[in-house]
Amino acid sequence: MKRYKDLSPSPRIIMTPGPVEADPRVLRAMSFPILGQFDPEFTELMNETMGMLRQLFATSNEWAFPVDGTSRSGIEAVLVSLIEPGDKVLVPIFGRFGHLLVEIARRCGANVVTLETEWGTVFDVEEITAAIRLYRPKLVGIVHGETSTGRMQPLDGIGAVCREVDALLVVDAVATIGGTPVETDKWMIDAVIGGTQKCLSVPSGSSPITYNTRAEAKILRRKRIEQGLLAAGQESGHDELSAPIQSNYLDLSQLQDYWSSARLNHHTESTSMLYALREGLRVVLEEGLEERYARHRAHELALAAGLNAMGLKLFGDPSCKMPVVTCINIPEGIDGESVRSMLLQQFGIEIASSFGPLKGKIWRIGTMGYSCSKRNVLLTLGALEATLLKHGYSLPAGAAVQAAFDAYGV
Ligand SMILES: Cc1ncc(COP(=O)(O)O)c(C=O)c1O
Repeated sequence: MKRYKDLSPSPRIIMTPGPVEADPRVLRAMSFPILGQFDPEFTELMNETMGMLRQLFATSNEWAFPVDGTSRSGIEAVLVSLIEPGDKVLVPIFGRFGHLLVEIARRCGANVVTLETEWGTVFDVEEITAAIRLYRPKLVGIVHGETSTGRMQPLDGIGAVCREVDALLVVDAVATIGGTPVETDKWMIDAVIGGTQKCLSVPSGSSPITYNTRAEAKILRRKRIEQGLLAAGQESGHDELSAPIQSNYLDLSQLQDYWSSARLNHHTESTSMLYALREGLRVVLEEGLEERYARHRAHELALAAGLNAMGLKLFGDPSCKMPVVTCINIPEGIDGESVRSMLLQQFGIEIASSFGPLKGKIWRIGTMGYSCSKRNVLLTLGALEATLLKHGYSLPAGAAVQAAFDAYGV
C-alpha cells in the first residue's frame, strides 16, 4: 500500500497578487472545534462577521455576508441573481477579469455590450458614463483592481449615472478590498464582491459580498422558496413574471434568508472559513482601515524605489497603478519564467507572471495583507537582484535594497 508523507508545506514568502500568506491568527482560528450551524454561539459569529463586513465595505447595507466558494462564486452569485435572461449588461474591460465578468454575464443569458481599452490603462469615468447613457443597460459590471494588469479603475461618478438610467452597478473589488479604499455607499455601488486570499490574508474559499436595497428589490422579485422548506399548506407566492434565479447554490434570495434572523436553511455554512474570515476582519479593523491603506502605500513605494534602482521599468500607466500590485516589464533577453523559478527554488519567494497578451511580458509583485511587510519587500528586492545578476542582467549591485532603505527612512 502506498504510504503518503506527513503534510509539511515549505515556508514561502508569497509576493503574488494572491493568494498571499495567511495571517497566523487566521490559521489559528481555523483550528478551533466545529459548532453546529444553528448553535446560537455560531449564529452570533455569523452576525458579528456581517457587522465587520459592513465596516470593511464602508456601507450601511443590511446585506453583507460571505458566499462559500472562491471570489468567483461571489461574482457568479451577484450576477446570476441580478441578471435575467435578455437583460442588457455593459462591461468596460481593461484586463482578464473584465473578460470574466462578460463570460459569466453571458452564461446568465445577458445581452452583453463591452467597452475595451488597452491592457495597462483604464477608462476615463466620462467614457463609461457616456456609454451608460447611450446603451441604457440594466446592469453595469466593472473590475476595481485588475490584477492581470495592476491597474485600478476610478469609480466615483459612475453610480450616479447608473441611477439616472435605472441600471445596477456591480463592482469586482476582489483584489482591492482591505488594501485600498472601497467606498460602497459613497460611490453608489449597488453590489460589491470582495476576495479573502488577497488583502484580507485569509485563505481562498470564501467571498464576502454586499448589496443594497436596489439590488435586493430585483433579487426578491425572482425569489423562489425551495419546495422542501415550505411549511404544510404554505404557498411559495413567487412573482410569475420574473425569471427564477438560475443557480440554486448561488441564489442570493435564499442566501439572504439563511443570513437573516429567519435562518432559513440553505447550504451548511463553512464553519472553519467563517472562523477564518471573522478573525481576518478582526485583524483588519484592529489595525484600522486608514492605517492599513497607508501601510500598503508605504510598502508599494519602497518596492517601486528598489525596482527603479535596479533599472527595471514598471509596466502600465502610472496614474492608475494599483497600490497593492506592481507590474514590471521583463527586460529584453531575460527568461521571465526562469527568474521566477529561481526565486522560488533558491529563496522560497513567489512572484507572478500574467495572462493573455501580457503572458511572458511582465512580472507581477503583490504587496497585500500579511505579505505586505518591510521584511518581505527587502528580501524580495535582494533576491530579485541576485537572481537577475545570475541571469546576466547588468544592474548596480546593492542599489535596490539601499533605495528601499531610503524609502523606509532606515
Ligand atoms: C480581480 C479579480 N477578480 C476575480 C478573481 C477570481 O478570484 P478566485 O480565484 O478567488 O475565484 C481574481 C483572482 O485572482 C481577481 O484578481
